[in-house]
Amino acid sequence: MPDIESLLKEKRIFKPNSDFARQANWNKKTVREYRALGAKNPQRFWAKMARENVSWFTPFKKVLDWKPPFAKWFIGGKLNVSYNCLDRHLEGENAWRRNKAAIIWEGEPGDTRTLTFGDLHREVCKFANVLKARGVKKGDRVALYMPMIPELAIAVLACTRIGAPHSVVFGGFSAEALRDRIDDAGAKLVVTADGGYRRGSPHALKPAVDEALEGTDIVGSVVVVERTGQATKMKAGRDFWWHDLMDEASAVCAPAKLDAEHPLFILYTSGTTGKPKGILHTTGGYLTHVTTTSKAIFDLKDEDTYWCTADIGWITGHSYVIYGPLACGATTLMYEGVPTYPAPDRLWDIIERHRVTIFYTAPTAIRTFIRLGDEHPKKHDMSSLRLLGTVGEPINPEAWMWYHRVIGGKRCPIVDTWWQTETGGILITPLPAAVDTVPGSATLPFPGIDAEVYTEEGDPTTPPAGGYLVIRKPWPGMLRGIWGDSARFKETYWSQYDNTYFAGDGAHRDKRGYFWIMGRIDDVMNISGHRIGTMEVESALVSHADVAEAAVVGRPDEITGTAIVAFVTPKSGVEAGGDLNAALRMHVTKQIGAIAKPAEIRFTDALPKTRSGKIMRRLLRDIAGGKEAMGDTSTLEDYSVLARLRESDE
Ligand code: WT7
Repeated sequence: MPDIESLLKEKRIFKPNSDFARQANWNKKTVREYRALGAKNPQRFWAKMARENVSWFTPFKKVLDWKPPFAKWFIGGKLNVSYNCLDRHLEGENAWRRNKAAIIWEGEPGDTRTLTFGDLHREVCKFANVLKARGVKKGDRVALYMPMIPELAIAVLACTRIGAPHSVVFGGFSAEALRDRIDDAGAKLVVTADGGYRRGSPHALKPAVDEALEGTDIVGSVVVVERTGQATKMKAGRDFWWHDLMDEASAVCAPAKLDAEHPLFILYTSGTTGKPKGILHTTGGYLTHVTTTSKAIFDLKDEDTYWCTADIGWITGHSYVIYGPLACGATTLMYEGVPTYPAPDRLWDIIERHRVTIFYTAPTAIRTFIRLGDEHPKKHDMSSLRLLGTVGEPINPEAWMWYHRVIGGKRCPIVDTWWQTETGGILITPLPAAVDTVPGSATLPFPGIDAEVYTEEGDPTTPPAGGYLVIRKPWPGMLRGIWGDSARFKETYWSQYDNTYFAGDGAHRDKRGYFWIMGRIDDVMNISGHRIGTMEVESALVSHADVAEAAVVGRPDEITGTAIVAFVTPKSGVEAGGDLNAALRMHVTKQIGAIAKPAEIRFTDALPKTRSGKIMRRLLRDIAGGKEAMGDTSTLEDYSVLARLRESDE
């Protein structure tokens, strides 16, 4: 962990701004009270949050049933997520929200749509009826492979209305990746679009669905949104246009009364094997977690225009574009396209035009904008902003300072939020009215969260110290399992330490106890805040006919955080070089998607291995990062391999 030294030198401290603190949902006093309660009795704290922030059809009888590693929260409770995100904002004292914007959407070409809570409720009810009419029942899985358009939010919420778990597959994934995810979840229906806009031109999505479904018959129907109007093949009897089905659908659909532990969604994420994991989240605990954190950390108010730039294909988009903000009755902004299209000031222009008040994005985006130059944000009036957030990877203090100065005008608190697909919601974060921030640190665990830094042996460390990040007590938004693979669930998260969640991140705690997340310590890379397993890229590479062996590692990159470097041994007789390089990059894009495409491929006639045949990734990481491979090489099988690999560098 080479960065620890530099981070420890960070002396700048930012106290909560008093104007902000005065109006905050959670002020200092509230936070003090909740921290005390959360430490003393986390179940009582979360039960209070569940009652205050979530509407239940039937109240829960028991807060937690914990048979490690299996947790059940809010047992006996019945609720519906779409009811919490929509119906409750149309009733009683909240009825005025009917004509308040729920979603402000902007397409990449500049077209905009605003859906009020009333509009969104109507569309969701209609699409829920469409799903039912296509034979989708409670418990059936629905796969969504869509661009960032309002129909994606509508489809997600419609699934929750009838209790059909959704599996959103990021639109940048390939047909192969989509097929794996559809198969693994056993999806009965797929929702997609003809295409979406990226960097000024339509890019097709429907052909990938056709390819993914070749040779399988589990999917009965495909519903296609017309977004770009591009020529689209439709298979009679299987494929239907969204607008045709919606035209006939009734706008009346009672929300299903679902068990607190009813499966809400599956979201695939990369792990240390080639096969992505279907992370399972359930209803009551997840909703409690994301609603409470949205209200407390983003300080959501009725007057806010909140914008999280994440794609709904990732967990951030699930929890903090859709569920958290809508359950709070907030206005959430959705943008379809590339942040630098048609010009580098696109995001700042959106902030100015829509008077965005809260902005949540990733460090990789911030670093990109730093490089593009201050003149772009400076062209815009961003005085509406009152709070900034970051997520997805460690933010370097210089990027934090730039965000604070240039985007936040030195007045906005910054919340650096640590969490994962598995955690469902934010676990380590500043609370903007109550916690002093230090650039680069995610600061402290949220109330009710018992985070620690352990030694390898499983002993808690005394700050200042570094080690492995763990969560010692269950929390409501935690994953309930890996879809169809409880052995892997236990092995991945619960086998390192007894009854303790192992996050896979290294962390350091400074003298005041603040957490500094140092990044993944397993074979998982974080590329622009997106998680890619080294094994996944390796299996894609070796599936190419010309490849004998491949090893993939990450190397530090100024913009994307990590860049993918592949060491490839071609089959004998195959010529290594430019053509193969291009072919392999294309092959990985086809197998997984462009996000997994190696930045660099190095050809080598052998890979460094231990005597038992394990690839020594640590050495490869050093070589890829331009460092001398100085670590322990006592188990290296063939020393000359290392020398030859270094030569391949020249
Ligand atoms: C991994 C989870 C849930 C957010 C999107 C990514 C890294 C996330 C931070 C942060 C340092 C962070 C960790 C984590 N990460 N937030 N604020 N500071 N690192 O979700 O794909 O499940 O990845 O992202 O390494 O384990 P994900």
